[in-house]
Amino acid sequence: MRFTDKSIIVTGAGSGIGRAAALLFASEGGRVVVADKTEGADETAHLITQAGGTATAIRIDAGLEEDVIRTIALACNSFGGLDVMFANAGISGGMANLFDTDVALITEVLRVNLIGPFLAIKHAAPRIAERGKGAIVLTASVAGIRSGAGSPAYSASKAGVINLAAVSAQQLTGSNVRVNAICPGLTETGMTKPVFDYAREANKMDRVGRLNPLHRGAQPEELAKVALFLASDDASYVNGQAIAVDGGLSSSHPVTRQEYGKTAA
Ligand SMILES: NC(=O)c1ccc[n+]([C@@H]2O[C@H](COP(=O)([O-])OP(=O)(O)OC[C@H]3O[C@@H](n4cnc5c(N)ncnc54)[C@H](O)[C@@H]3O)[C@@H](O)[C@H]2O)c1
Repeated sequence: MRFTDKSIIVTGAGSGIGRAAALLFASEGGRVVVADKTEGADETAHLITQAGGTATAIRIDAGLEEDVIRTIALACNSFGGLDVMFANAGISGGMANLFDTDVALITEVLRVNLIGPFLAIKHAAPRIAERGKGAIVLTASVAGIRSGAGSPAYSASKAGVINLAAVSAQQLTGSNVRVNAICPGLTETGMTKPVFDYAREANKMDRVGRLNPLHRGAQPEELAKVALFLASDDASYVNGQAIAVDGGLSSSHPVTRQEYGKTAA
């Protein structure tokens, strides 16, 4: 029960990693503002209250400043302040290559994926600091670490999120507000549903995640648990970091690996 009576905002909580995190926060006693642009927000809040937890839903665009301010006000008015902000909402923006990416596309991807977390930090940090301590967690991606896991627009946006965690942790010196990011690898969520659906239909699930040493994709709860760790006092000395949660994908250059227990041919 690491979050008993803590006031927590999760954006992108209508699906995937955000929903899993909202459910886990609530199961550990947190009072959760479930923010999403879709009706998934209401569904997640319903799941939490059905299980005996405390949640309130809000429909927002996480990349719009007035909506971020409105969400933080809801948390402060409903739960007496703010302790944790999980800025997780994001869009893939498709797989357009550099030359097929127009300015409108990259602007929208950056608005949601990078300006969203920027606004979350800018407006949440002062409220969290008022409590004496707390945490902000951002969702970046392995795509933000290096090439090969997303479009140029998506990858650039997530690289920005990784840097934002570092810079804002420094800018919050003395506030006792920590900022960290998670970098998910391929995770089964709304965003990646077509990949997993196709693999299941084609009986090719063994190929999903085969580039990482665990040979599988992640489930949203595996990401949510790391977000909760970073948001909790268990991570009281972790600050300004981006933690890859990718089955080991980003820990290697591309090489032909030798399987454990098998000798080289
Ligand atoms: N699934 C993966 O493999 C993977 C890998 C790396 C990073 N991520 C990141 O994880 C985060 C969560 O995504 P997910 O995989 O759970 O996908 P998802 O599509 O299941 O969930 C994302 C949620 O964010 C919401 N959302 C999107 N834009 C929004 C906006 N402007 N305002 C408010 N809500 C908005 C969506 O409605 C959705 O409910 C994203 O930031 C994504 O980029 C996912």
